[in-house]
Amino acid sequence: MATISAGSGTNDDAPGPSDPRIDPDRLLATLSRFATFGATDGGGLNRLSLGDADGQARDELCAIARRRGYRVEVDPIGNIFITRPGLDETLPVLLVGSHLDSQPFGGRYDGAYGVLAGLEVLRSLDDAGLRTRRSVTLVDWTNEEGARFSPGLLGSGVVAGTISLADAHARTDAQGITVGQELDRLGYRGAFDSSSLAVHRSFETHIEQGPVLERTGTDIGVVTGVQAIRWFDVLVQGQDRHAGTTAHSDRQDALVAAARLIEVVDRMADTVDEKLRATVGEIRVQPNSRNVIPGRAVLAIDLRHPDPARLDQAEEQLRRAAAEVAEQRGVRTEVHQVLEMPPTAFDAGTTDLIRRAAASLGRSAMEMSSGAGHDSMNVASRAPASMLFIPCVDGLSHTQAEDIHDEWAVNGASVLLTAVRWAAEEAAGHSPE
Ligand code: GLV
Ligand code: MN
Ligand code: MN
Repeated sequence: MATISAGSGTNDDAPGPSDPRIDPDRLLATLSRFATFGATDGGGLNRLSLGDADGQARDELCAIARRRGYRVEVDPIGNIFITRPGLDETLPVLLVGSHLDSQPFGGRYDGAYGVLAGLEVLRSLDDAGLRTRRSVTLVDWTNEEGARFSPGLLGSGVVAGTISLADAHARTDAQGITVGQELDRLGYRGAFDSSSLAVHRSFETHIEQGPVLERTGTDIGVVTGVQAIRWFDVLVQGQDRHAGTTAHSDRQDALVAAARLIEVVDRMADTVDEKLRATVGEIRVQPNSRNVIPGRAVLAIDLRHPDPARLDQAEEQLRRAAAEVAEQRGVRTEVHQVLEMPPTAFDAGTTDLIRRAAASLGRSAMEMSSGAGHDSMNVASRAPASMLFIPCVDGLSHTQAEDIHDEWAVNGASVLLTAVRWAAEEAAGHSPE
């Protein structure tokens, strides 16, 4: 565990009267402002990665940063790095942030909260006139969600080396538009060499996206790790034919075959174990017309479990079911894996800083692991990383109904500020590098 010294030069954990404070009004106003970019009628967000609304949110973030005099750098996959320089710019930085993209009918806080809480930390340091020893860098990762371009965690994946830049640029959306085209259109194909950015510690603040913190009345989730994730695209190829003239015995209906597979995926938790999460979240049918027997269907499948051996079991079931359905329905099936994220254990020293920061502010905290995936999984392969969660109403996320209370937002940003301040003063000799 690294030795921590407080920014004031004392070893006292409790902030003194002159210490920087989160400005609640500014934080909440900024959250509201960013929720206008891609706002849906249902009170949520449709801010798909590298669409117009994502471009507006990115532009706004960069404009605020430039007005503040922070350094704004963009890497070739469009990740934005905003740095408030420290006293010693040769030292590895503190990384904070998350993602601004959303699901198609997503909420206002998944991702955006982590970016804007990080921005508020930088602004609070300005207010107090505090120069940290290490620089603090705020990041907005490109295409965390994977809703428009698959796979998710794309921007951090390029930095971590789990996907090549060329492959990432070539990823297409449902219209065939590539990531590279959209980066050029929006002006976010930068030249910053983010893979050589030295990171001392990374903190990502996020809504829990589950019900535990709210149910237990706990302010802060201290996140110790994330379960493993595998994504698959399953192609079902049949024959499109006339709906009115083709007897059922003559059909190779890709959609009916896909429906059988959906049933299998939904029942997997019964045969693997109750910790398995197995979801078919998307189905793309061609030609998608009422009076044509569907000739082609692609299922987008999400499997998660803390234990990769259990995921092996689930994957085996999926592959077997795909082969059986092909045989039974006279179609061809192909199972393609599009994402592999092993389980992640976050850095104990960084997690401990979050726990201590919460305690120093009188906030209740509990350890938890994350069911949702996060860019911090990729960051953790290169630097000491951890996450802190705040509650969300009814555990809802990936829905327009996602919501948080004002004080939860302020609590999370305040704990982040304290943890960042401490970590930013850690001496090189006591650092985790
Ligand atoms: C990220 O949103 C995930 O799929 O967990
Ligand atoms: Mn998220
Ligand atoms: Mn999400």
